[in-house]
Amino acid sequence: MSTESTIAVAIDAGDLPMGGGLMALVRPALLLLEPGGVLAINSCHDSLQDDLSVWCRIKQHEYLGHEPAPMAGASGTTEGSGCHDSSVGKPKPTVRHLIRRGDLSVPQGSRETNMRLEAVNGRLSAEAVLSAVPMPETADPRTGFAPRGAQVEPGGPRYPFDLLDRNHVAPPEVAKLYDQAVESQWDGNRDIPWHKLPMHSPDLERAIGQVFTFLAENELSALYVPSRFVSRIHPAYAEVAMFLSTQMADEARHIDVFLKRARSGGAGLGVSSVTTSQSLLSLLELTDFTEATFLLSVLGEGTFVDLLRFIEDHAPDDVTAEVVSRARNDEARHVHFGLVHVRHALANDPGLYQRLENAVRRRAAVMAANSGVPEPLQDGLTILAAGSTTYRDIARGHDEFRALLDEMHTNRIKRLEHAGFTSAQANTLSELHTPNFM
Ligand SMILES: [Fe+2]
Ligand SMILES: [Fe+2]
Repeated sequence: MSTESTIAVAIDAGDLPMGGGLMALVRPALLLLEPGGVLAINSCHDSLQDDLSVWCRIKQHEYLGHEPAPMAGASGTTEGSGCHDSSVGKPKPTVRHLIRRGDLSVPQGSRETNMRLEAVNGRLSAEAVLSAVPMPETADPRTGFAPRGAQVEPGGPRYPFDLLDRNHVAPPEVAKLYDQAVESQWDGNRDIPWHKLPMHSPDLERAIGQVFTFLAENELSALYVPSRFVSRIHPAYAEVAMFLSTQMADEARHIDVFLKRARSGGAGLGVSSVTTSQSLLSLLELTDFTEATFLLSVLGEGTFVDLLRFIEDHAPDDVTAEVVSRARNDEARHVHFGLVHVRHALANDPGLYQRLENAVRRRAAVMAANSGVPEPLQDGLTILAAGSTTYRDIARGHDEFRALLDEMHTNRIKRLEHAGFTSAQANTLSELHTPNFM
């Protein structure tokens, strides 16, 4: 029989029988204990001894025995509730049963005690949750969809998650980016003043239809590529999956508004080029999360930020400008995620530089037969920048388009340097980047 000092938790069970609610007190009380900890149950029920010892054997706890309950005020215990024996009109004696928590039969890990998240200025951010419940360095696929911080019963099935390493999955900034993403959602149905779209010349509208066809096709890849990784991310890093889900919602909205813009001016959709198709397939086929994030978000979406700014600067009306401006804000967040992801992974894995460079080179080899920006897009952007199809305007539009390519290259180098590459590496990687931009 244990002494008072070994009892960690005591409960007052009155005359509750095993099948009458007693376990709703016993099981949660055992969860508060470390394995080996002792629970005292003060009870005046007659037949609890046999029931408890059988239950303990099944659940792999240890029934230590029973003894008369001490009087009220004894340390670590409470007196029984003084149930009454109506047949004799006297209080029934209270007995103290002792159970030692087993090692195996109950959930592993400590309960989150004193977990009290507090709102700041009326807000409770995902960033605050992450700092209260940090991500583990590695994750166990046998904890399945158990939320980080839950106590997990042993013996569960192994899940097919294979992104199990915090340094290659979850940059520390991810929860903050998720908060920003949720706050920045907009509605492509309601928030664009579609009714204000003016009539343009057929030539200009066809150019716009072409540009937005290209944008929508690329946005489709930006929706599908992250989706391939979400189901592989261990839920210990749920904030990454949650951020990617906001990114996918953003891309869905971009596809929607870009196609609406192409079809609102009278010209409809333009051409989908083999160069684009080849480039996007090479993204979709990537199986490494960090390589995919690097190619899609740092290089591809980074270049798209410059492209969207160019379209906004040359937009012939406010509706077109609004569409690309809103999309560009979202893209800046996607690029930010890509940069912090890659920076974090590079800081923890020096061998990653070479792997990322190899990924860019492999893709460049696949794209070797597709040199140059897709021609329908070149023409569309040139006419958009010209604002008309008079040859003098076109000459200016052509120069603007060439300047865009230079600006994209310069900004890619800056992003690559920010991600952690040297200037020489950044220059090489930028030059090898796909002519499709994404
Ligand atoms: Fe997008
Ligand atoms: Fe994006």
